[in-house]
Amino acid sequence: MTITDVIKTRRNIKFFNPQPISESDLISWLETASYAPNHRLNEPWELLFVGPETRAKLNHKTDFGSAPVIIAVLSKPGATSFERDENVMAVSCFVQNFLIAAHEAGVGVYWASLGASAHNREILDVPQDYDVIGVFAIGYPAEVPTAKPRTSITSKITYLS
Ligand SMILES: Cc1cc2nc3c(=O)[nH]c(=O)nc-3n(C[C@H](O)[C@H](O)[C@H](O)COP(=O)(O)O)c2cc1C
Repeated sequence: MTITDVIKTRRNIKFFNPQPISESDLISWLETASYAPNHRLNEPWELLFVGPETRAKLNHKTDFGSAPVIIAVLSKPGATSFERDENVMAVSCFVQNFLIAAHEAGVGVYWASLGASAHNREILDVPQDYDVIGVFAIGYPAEVPTAKPRTSITSKITYLS
């Protein structure tokens, strides 16, 4: 697959096969993700590998589609709100890299935003000044949804003089 194919065929996966994910593969996709752009090379991402007890407490409606692996991705605080925003931007780039690295290997990811709620932040033991970018369920897809069509990009362009 070309990088264009990988980007265009990646989907948010909601149901997974029980087949386990190798931890070394997972680490290699996260390593790849860390080549994301990040200002002053501050690498503002931090990762929580969510174990079964914490996962059960999150009480997700489908238990994350039975995914074998759950991680949460955090963004470190900044000295200013500008830096904090930049950190969130860099971690979003990190996440996209991770999604496409996993997809290239045939592995799907479900992006869930539930980790941002006060209750779930407490369950995940997230420090007060960190942002939760998402909780990610990772595994081999049991179902791949069809792509939702995107708006023509030309309708998003404004030409400035
Ligand atoms: C910041 C962010 C939060 C998201 N949170 C959720 C979520 O809580 N639940 C969910 O089903 N999908 C969530 N998604 C995934 C989107 O719903 C999904 O990417 C979108 O429907 C487009 O589908 P695709 O990724 O398969 O192209 C989230 C995506 C982003 C970028």
